Amino acid sequence: MRQQLVQVAEDIGAKGKGILAADESSGTIKKRFDGISVESTEENRRDYRELLFRTSDALSECISGVILFDETLRQSAADGTPLVQLLSDAGSIPGIKIDKGAHDLAGAPGEKVTEGLDGLRERLAEYYELGARFTKWRAVIDIGRGGDRAIPSAYGIGANAHALARMAALSQEQGLVPIVEPEVLMDGDHNIDRCFEVTEATLKQVYMALFHQRVLLEGSVLKPNMVLSGKLCADQAGVDEVAEKTVRCLKRAVPSSVPSIVFLSGGQTDIEATAHLNAMNAGFDTPWNLSFSYGRALQAAPLQAWGGAADNGPAAQAAFAHRARMNGLATRGKWSMELERAAA
Ligand code: 13P
Repeated sequence: MRQQLVQVAEDIGAKGKGILAADESSGTIKKRFDGISVESTEENRRDYRELLFRTSDALSECISGVILFDETLRQSAADGTPLVQLLSDAGSIPGIKIDKGAHDLAGAPGEKVTEGLDGLRERLAEYYELGARFTKWRAVIDIGRGGDRAIPSAYGIGANAHALARMAALSQEQGLVPIVEPEVLMDGDHNIDRCFEVTEATLKQVYMALFHQRVLLEGSVLKPNMVLSGKLCADQAGVDEVAEKTVRCLKRAVPSSVPSIVFLSGGQTDIEATAHLNAMNAGFDTPWNLSFSYGRALQAAPLQAWGGAADNGPAAQAAFAHRARMNGLATRGKWSMELERAAA
């Protein structure tokens, strides 16, 4: 069992590849579809995801794993092929989002805790049967506005770290590699140094909780935010500063036994997400593989290109393949704005 977990964690971190996060919950995919005036029906959701999963060259080249929502793990393509089969055929490992979203944390106004632990062992056993080999659970840590240092509280960070460790231990018990995702949000007016401070405190609590709950770090993957200026901060840090501070923060908090760190994009533009990852890989030696697990930064372009019309399928696939390849290059520190323009 340990060997299998370590192997899957290593496969997820294969050099030159990263993860496609296609695990939007029903509410989130509706929001994305609203943005392109497409109705969020089961068939439309299936068609859209089938289109991504049939972009097989790009998947084989650059996407080691795909995170799915419960519905998608059970769906079949229009021709009856299970969607997970499309992924396996392209050499991508299917994974599953297992959390039930962030809810108000009792006694901590303005803070959230992620729920979904009840009945999780049984759900995990079923997900394994359905073909999933890794899990993802997202904790959400907000940073108080206007310099309010009460948020996040030690209680809020601790409750989320505890839940992440519970799900990680259960996932490993069921043979699934946990992707541990503590997301410090980039919403807000805080500067990059406040983001550094909160991210460091969060990651340290998370690794303490994983240790206490006997999680095998070699069989796990971390999905963190990058260290960034808040979206509403007047002083926006540049690419080099983001890369340097993100790597420094991770080095303080993440044990080197973790094989891979795959960043979320979290509201960065497509190019920012790629440029930041590239700068880290080009400029720093790190004990872990540094890659991506992007949702929006891989899907914004194909969603726009698709717009709900089957005729636009090839254009949407080209847009997705392009972003996958650009981010694949960024995992090797070999991306550039010139390549971006040349391909466009
Ligand atoms: P974004 O890259 O859009 O932040 O999504 C990644 C993800 O899976 C969030 O849980």
